[in-house]
Amino acid sequence: MRIVTSLSVAVVALASVTAICTTAALAQVAQTPPMGWNSWNYFAGKVTDKDIRASADQIVSSGMKDAGYIYVNIDDTWEGQRDASGVLHTNDKFPDMKALADYVHSKGLKIGIYSSPGPKTCAGYEASYGHEEQDAQLYASWGIDYLKYDLCSFIGDVMEKQAPNDKAAQMRIMIAAYDKMDKALKATGRPIVLSLCQYGWDAVWEWAPGIGGNLWRTTGDITPRWDRIYAIVSQQSGLESYAGPGHWNDPDMLEVGNGKLSLAENRSHFSWWALLAAPLLAGNDLPNMKPEIKAILTNRDVVAIDQDALGKQGRHAYSDGEVEVWVRELKGGGLAIGVFNVGSDRYSTHPFHLDLGKLGLHGAQAGKDLWTGKSLTLVDNGPIELGSHDVFLVRVDAPK
Ligand code: GLA
Repeated sequence: MRIVTSLSVAVVALASVTAICTTAALAQVAQTPPMGWNSWNYFAGKVTDKDIRASADQIVSSGMKDAGYIYVNIDDTWEGQRDASGVLHTNDKFPDMKALADYVHSKGLKIGIYSSPGPKTCAGYEASYGHEEQDAQLYASWGIDYLKYDLCSFIGDVMEKQAPNDKAAQMRIMIAAYDKMDKALKATGRPIVLSLCQYGWDAVWEWAPGIGGNLWRTTGDITPRWDRIYAIVSQQSGLESYAGPGHWNDPDMLEVGNGKLSLAENRSHFSWWALLAAPLLAGNDLPNMKPEIKAILTNRDVVAIDQDALGKQGRHAYSDGEVEVWVRELKGGGLAIGVFNVGSDRYSTHPFHLDLGKLGLHGAQAGKDLWTGKSLTLVDNGPIELGSHDVFLVRVDAPK
């Protein structure tokens, strides 16, 4: 009897330790903005199991894993059909999701997947409507670590049908759908990052952290074009107070290395995402990545700004003509300063002059140029030469 009692005490004790550990583990995801790679921006609907494996291989061999890129995320078009029991199967492009997850995990990486709260995904594949718990359990059984949940067909097929002409009611239905999936994921006991993709509707930054969202898209889709990247950046001002450890604004996945972006534009894009404490999900063709693109994505100093433990999103400090100055406060009192030339070239005839006073700084500041790696001293109104769409990114460890 005594043995039985102490055994049950031990079992209860063990159960509570497990519960505490699980809660702690669940609470710990995305303490810094998630880093990794996602299939959509390069492969879109063509992605296959083979591409995911090759990308995972490259994340390791390119040094991206060592730089912090951990999540390998499969976006839309992996889904097949449901069987008679409602269990979702993969399509022919992904013969065995569990085996793929095991492969990605064997590399010391994590794996992400994609679905929609509606009946269909954005690309028209089978999604989670009415099968939320079942799908969450399936993801957990495969070993999935991250879910991007994309509104899409839920708008027309559910929100507009259930509450025609009532926007407020539609938004409540949308929020409940995300809450439902968060609860379903939590019920699996597996820590799974929840990424909301609903394009910034209904001030998502105000309610997403409350329903367990770890990141939320703040805008519509990114494209590998300067104009689009700059338009997205311009929509981020004012959102900085909503980001912090465990919950981040997501201005969408990286286009570094995609399309016809110039090197300057790739550098600016990456610098902005770091200052914005944005998730760093590369979206380029990793097996064919050029060395200069790899150098941008793996710049440890810039990644360190993004991953700074204080988790304070940067802000637009001031603009002068076509030059924008952004700052981000760092752990330990440091400051990252980004000077972006969003217009045409500025060289020795008309360099930009950085006004340190407008950043609350007084006199010369010792810093590091994070794109050249060189130490420098910033002086008030000192000239800065910047090509079109290029950036000057500096870290000042002890601002005065
Ligand atoms: C939406 C999302 C994209 C991508 C596609 C997939 O457009 O915003 O990021 O996931 O769907 O269909």
